[in-house]
Amino acid sequence: MAFLDQLRRDPDVEAPDLVAVDATDRLLLDEAAAAIAVHPDGVLTVGDTHGALTLGAIVLHGATGVRAHTDLRVAELALAANAERTGTTGFTVLPQLDATGARVVLVQAPKALDALREVAEVVAAGADPSVTVYVGGRVKHMTRAMNDVLGDSFTDVHATLARQKSRLLVATGPRPGTPSFPRSAEHPDLGVTVVAHGAAFAGTKVDLGTRALLRQLPAGPGGGRAVDLGCGTGVLAVALARAGFSVLASDASAAAVASAAATAAANGVADRVEVTRDDALAGVEPGSVDLVVCNPPFHQGTTVHAGIADRLFAAAGRVLRPGGQLLTVYNSHLPHRAALRRLVGPTRQLSRDPRFTVTASTRL
Ligand SMILES: C[S@@+](CC[C@H](N)C(=O)[O-])C[C@H]1O[C@@H](n2cnc3c(N)ncnc32)[C@H](O)[C@@H]1O
Repeated sequence: MAFLDQLRRDPDVEAPDLVAVDATDRLLLDEAAAAIAVHPDGVLTVGDTHGALTLGAIVLHGATGVRAHTDLRVAELALAANAERTGTTGFTVLPQLDATGARVVLVQAPKALDALREVAEVVAAGADPSVTVYVGGRVKHMTRAMNDVLGDSFTDVHATLARQKSRLLVATGPRPGTPSFPRSAEHPDLGVTVVAHGAAFAGTKVDLGTRALLRQLPAGPGGGRAVDLGCGTGVLAVALARAGFSVLASDASAAAVASAAATAAANGVADRVEVTRDDALAGVEPGSVDLVVCNPPFHQGTTVHAGIADRLFAAAGRVLRPGGQLLTVYNSHLPHRAALRRLVGPTRQLSRDPRFTVTASTRL
C-alpha cells in the first residue's frame, strides 16, 4: 500500500466523507519535493491535519529532523498515532510556532486570514532568508486576500496551477517585520479586554453567540469549579472568574490557550483562571466539575460536522458531577437538543432568538 494510504484520522472525528490525507497534502508534498531534497534538515510543517505532510516529507522525500506545529491538539494526536502505526520517527512537535532557520515550510492554509498572517509573520521573522513557503488549500477556500497577506511578509508570492481542486501559493524572500499578534481590544459594553492570536475564534471581537451565553451565566457569587470548554480567547472564563468560580479554560487550539491566558491576565483574573490545551477535556477527572460553559464549534478548520460539537457535549457530561450543569449556546436551526439530553442529561431552554438558543443541561 502506498505510504500516504496507510494514514488514518484517528482520534479525529471520523465520517465517510472525511479523509486523513487530502489532495492539498499530496500537492504540497509533490511541489516541495525538490526543495526538501536540497534541504532535508530544514523542513517545518504548519497545520498538518493528520501527519501526512510531516511523515510524508520524511518517508517519501528523506527529510530529517522535521519540525511540526499545528494549532489543533487533535492534529498532534493524529500525527503521533500515524507515526506509531507506520513506524516513522524523525520529527519534533512544536507547541508554539517557531520557524528559526527553516528552509522549506509546508502549510495547510488556515481558514482565518489572521491565522495565515500570524504564520507568515512568524516564518518571515525566523526562517532562513532562502526559505520557500508552500501554502496549500482547496481552491474554493483560497482567496486573493491570501496572496496579499503573504505579500506583506514575503517579496515574491505566486500561485501554482490547481490540481484536483487544490492549489498552492509559493512565497520566497522573507521580509521580517514587527509581529502584529497578539492583538487586543477593549469592549467597554462588556467590561472586558480581549487578547487574540491570529487563529483564535472571533479574534478580538466577541461573537454574538458568546454574548447570548454571557447573558445567561450565573451572576455570582458562585463557588466551585467551572470549566470554559473550547475557551477561545477566554471571554466566558473571565466572566466566570468574576462571578467567583475557580475556572479551567480549556481549548484544543494553541492560539486559543495563548489568547485565553493573555485575556485572563489583561482582565486581572489570571489567579482564578487555569488554562490548558487539551482535546475535549481529556485530562480532567470525571465528575469533578460543578459548571461547564461551552460555545461549541460546528466546524474544525474547513470541516463542518455535527460530531465535533457532540464530542464536547460528551466531554461535559463526563466531567460534570451529578447535579452539575452544562450551559451551552448554538445556532437555533441546529438540532443539538437530543444530543444534549443523551450526552449530559435533562435540557431546558434559557433563551432563544432567531439566531441563538441557550440551554442548561443537568447531569443526572
Ligand atoms: C465557537 S468557538 C468558541 C470560543 C469561545 N468560547 C467564545 O465563545 O468566544 C469554539 C472553540 O472550541 C474549540 N474546540 C474545538 N474542538 C475542540 C476540542 N476537541 N477540544 C477542545 N476545544 C475544542 C475551538 O478551538 C474554539 O476555540
